[in-house]
Amino acid sequence: MEAQILVVDDESIVREMEIAALSGEGYHCHGAQDADSACRILRERTIELALIDINMPGRSGVQLLQEMKEFSPDTAAIMVTAMDDLETAMFCLKLGADDYILKPFNLDRVILSVRNALEKRRLSLENRMYQRHLEAKVLDQTQQIKETLEELQVAYDSTLKALARALDAREKETGSHSERVRGYTLLLAETFGVAEADLGEMAMGALLHDIGKVGVSDNTLLKPAKLNDEEWVEIRRHPQVGHDIIAGVSFLQGAAQIVLTHHERFDGKGYPNGLLGRDIPLGARIFSLVDTLDAMTSDRCYRKAMSFQAVVDEVQRCSGGQFDPMIVEAFLSIPKHRWEEIARKKFY
Ligand SMILES: [Fe+2]
Ligand SMILES: [Fe+2]
Repeated sequence: MEAQILVVDDESIVREMEIAALSGEGYHCHGAQDADSACRILRERTIELALIDINMPGRSGVQLLQEMKEFSPDTAAIMVTAMDDLETAMFCLKLGADDYILKPFNLDRVILSVRNALEKRRLSLENRMYQRHLEAKVLDQTQQIKETLEELQVAYDSTLKALARALDAREKETGSHSERVRGYTLLLAETFGVAEADLGEMAMGALLHDIGKVGVSDNTLLKPAKLNDEEWVEIRRHPQVGHDIIAGVSFLQGAAQIVLTHHERFDGKGYPNGLLGRDIPLGARIFSLVDTLDAMTSDRCYRKAMSFQAVVDEVQRCSGGQFDPMIVEAFLSIPKHRWEEIARKKFY
């Protein structure tokens, strides 16, 4: 489609001359005798280029240019001016005009200038479209990557949960112990003020804490009676075995530290390394409390579940012994129903 051009000049002879020349080149031309009627036309239709006389009665071409660039910034502008007003012409270039033509003018010069300005306009619009397309594409791909990563994360999580469920199934009476302690760990860690970035490895560590029990024989693991010394040695190996199983997986390295230290005690009397106090990773100090909580609030073949109050008393008694006093404090600040929501059962 041919470009639409607006010729603005108060002298009708000049205007008609320009329109005739440009129409002869195949452009669709409109004429305006002053700035006001030019603005009307510019607002009514898409004008690709305006040829604007600077010196007109009423508002000048400079004012028209300024207004036009505000509401129709993509319309190209060529200013037409008298020889003695070069300074104004230069000022118009600063305001966004593409070119200026001195009166009296040669029509070939007008046609050439129009052609150049339209070509420049076309390239800049094309360039802008390309940029927008590129931005949209980058946004779209970023979104796709994000979704893929999220899917991957869900796949990791469900794989690990399946593994944890398999472990739980072996020690029948504990039910979904692993998932419960994962939930408890998150609750206690958040209450304690652990940074969100560190919650993931704590959750994984809790979920997989007993993975090393795959190395413990059924005879020992499921023995209903008291364990002998040899069997205790076998059981006490499970943190190290568990650590070694997952330490090679890059995204489980933080969890592996928790698995290794989940039976350490704050007073240094735990295993396998007898770590003392805050030498024990925070995730393991948090976990050991909730592991005990879950053991005490679950029915076992040798005893019924304890009441929540009895658990609270026991945890307080073990503050500074088995447990870190700061973590005991965080535990005590959490009401019973928050734990019950995770366990989905009532504690008595
Ligand atoms: Fe364990
Ligand atoms: Fe456990």
